[in-house]
Amino acid sequence: MSDIQVQTFPYTPSMRPRRLRRTATLRRMVQETQLTPNDFIYPLFIRHGKDIRQPIRSMPNQFQWSIDRVIPEVCEAYRLGIPAVILFGIPETKDACGRENYDLNGIIPQSIRAIKDAVPEMLVISDMCFCEYTNHGHCGIINHKGETHYQAHLPEGYLLNDATLELLARTSVVHAEAGADIIAPSGMIDGMVGAIRAGLDGENLAHTMIMSYAVKYDSGFYGPFRDAAGSAPQFGDRSEYQMNPANRREALKEVALDVAEGADMLIVKPALPYLDVLSDVRQAYNLPLVAYQVSGEYSMIYAAAMNGWIDLQRCTLETLTSIKRAGADIIVTYFAKDVVKWLQP
Ligand code: PBG
Repeated sequence: MSDIQVQTFPYTPSMRPRRLRRTATLRRMVQETQLTPNDFIYPLFIRHGKDIRQPIRSMPNQFQWSIDRVIPEVCEAYRLGIPAVILFGIPETKDACGRENYDLNGIIPQSIRAIKDAVPEMLVISDMCFCEYTNHGHCGIINHKGETHYQAHLPEGYLLNDATLELLARTSVVHAEAGADIIAPSGMIDGMVGAIRAGLDGENLAHTMIMSYAVKYDSGFYGPFRDAAGSAPQFGDRSEYQMNPANRREALKEVALDVAEGADMLIVKPALPYLDVLSDVRQAYNLPLVAYQVSGEYSMIYAAAMNGWIDLQRCTLETLTSIKRAGADIIVTYFAKDVVKWLQP
């Protein structure tokens, strides 16, 4: 094409959105979504023992910590401006009903006391589930012939809903009494929020909050977590209690129930593959909305970056900004500490 043709090209746009993108200052001023340290919750895996900082094979730069080593990590996170941590425990022993989870001296009650002692202002969230503590790796009590809770009319291996509720309520009280600010039930057990609320209120723990994993999908992206927390189911999968990834409208039903049962905050999980769901929940409800960028989302970005295929910082910030743009107020992410450092001026 010659210059003359360009000059006489007969169309000039009347609208010019690029006007608002011409300089960095301008782009900064008109930016709709901002990330701040207040947006993040930092997940931590804690195990028994001393002086342990064990790398997690499938999650680069993430560790299993002993309590003595996790304290400085939590102090640093708080100093960086991160307001909350969510704790996952690796027990000494596993059994059919996950006893260590409600043992006063179990790994999580001990960790909560130690963290609240060292950094009282840090919000401590306890992930309330049984899969790390049970020998079968499921999120509650399993129907098994010969066990106390056995129900002959239900199949062998079925996750017993109401028997699990009792355990969730009891364990939540133990963790709240240890000092947990927030209980985060993650098992997709029907009635879990109501049962935990009743349990807490019955023990004078009306101020303990419930951050419900209201919408949790049966996702392949939890793979690395099951490695990190040793919580893979020993038989079957979680499709009888976690949601089918194909369902969008059903998410609003799950949220409605948890709101009615008294949830203070809502979680959608995983995050990036479910931005439509996040956006739906944001539009329909006014509770603080949390998105969980799960282990597989983390490791996928990390692996590609380690291969030199994508830029770690840029792509991570892009995913987190997208998650917030879709409607999340708060994001649980293994990148929490990195992001907060990247955001520093
Ligand atoms: C416990 C729980 C899981 C995750 C958080 N809480 C595992 C699962 O449901 O299998 C996954 C978190 C992650 O992948 O980062 N039920």
